[in-house]
Amino acid sequence: MSEKKIWYFEKPGVENTEATLKLAFERAKELGIKYVVLASSYGETAKKALKYLSGDMKLVVVTYHTGFMEEGKNTMDPETEEFLRKNGAVIVRQSHVLSGIERSITRKFGGISRVEVIAETLRALFGHGLKVCVEIAVMAADSGAIPITEVVAIGGKTRGADTAVVIRPAHMNNFFDAQIKEIICMPREKR
Ligand SMILES: Cc1cc2nc3c(=O)[nH]c(=O)nc-3n(C[C@H](O)[C@H](O)[C@H](O)COP(=O)(O)O)c2cc1C
Repeated sequence: MSEKKIWYFEKPGVENTEATLKLAFERAKELGIKYVVLASSYGETAKKALKYLSGDMKLVVVTYHTGFMEEGKNTMDPETEEFLRKNGAVIVRQSHVLSGIERSITRKFGGISRVEVIAETLRALFGHGLKVCVEIAVMAADSGAIPITEVVAIGGKTRGADTAVVIRPAHMNNFFDAQIKEIICMPREKR
């Protein structure tokens, strides 16, 4: 049995970014976790995270797939991407596992797919940030950027970060093998 702290922010959002990063990296250090996986659409949160890297820790930055906002375009500009890589970060850009092609089917024909129900359940019950933590951990594993071992994952609501967890990821073809081991911080109010 072990006793651990969970930090609750009053509301979700970008204003919780610095506190989330600090708590997430502290827990990673405490547990000897090597990989920190972070969602960053434009690179803002990733740039803020660099200062917390120490020892042989690796920062894996998961960003939106090409075309998510605009056909053929990336959200993160090439200079930011280059800066992050130069500072040791790995960038993951691939199809989003908790929406995928199902989102196109829903948009065209209506209804909702099983994958989107998983995403919405995580969002509604635990908040956007936690859904993002789960999704990016699987994406990072599927792109080969992290091994299937305990990592710290960090996500937020739209921009920045407000949630961090310790998660054992899984590949998308074995999704239900994933386990959230510890919640480090999350917003108390989800919406
Ligand atoms: C693959 C992926 C999926 C995301 N899904 C959601 C989501 O479902 N809901 C949400 O509010 N934000 C979502 N985000 C936003 C992130 O949680 C995070 O707040 C954002 O990427 C930070 O970007 P910034 O560093 O440019 O501020 C997602 C980001 C990525 C990369």
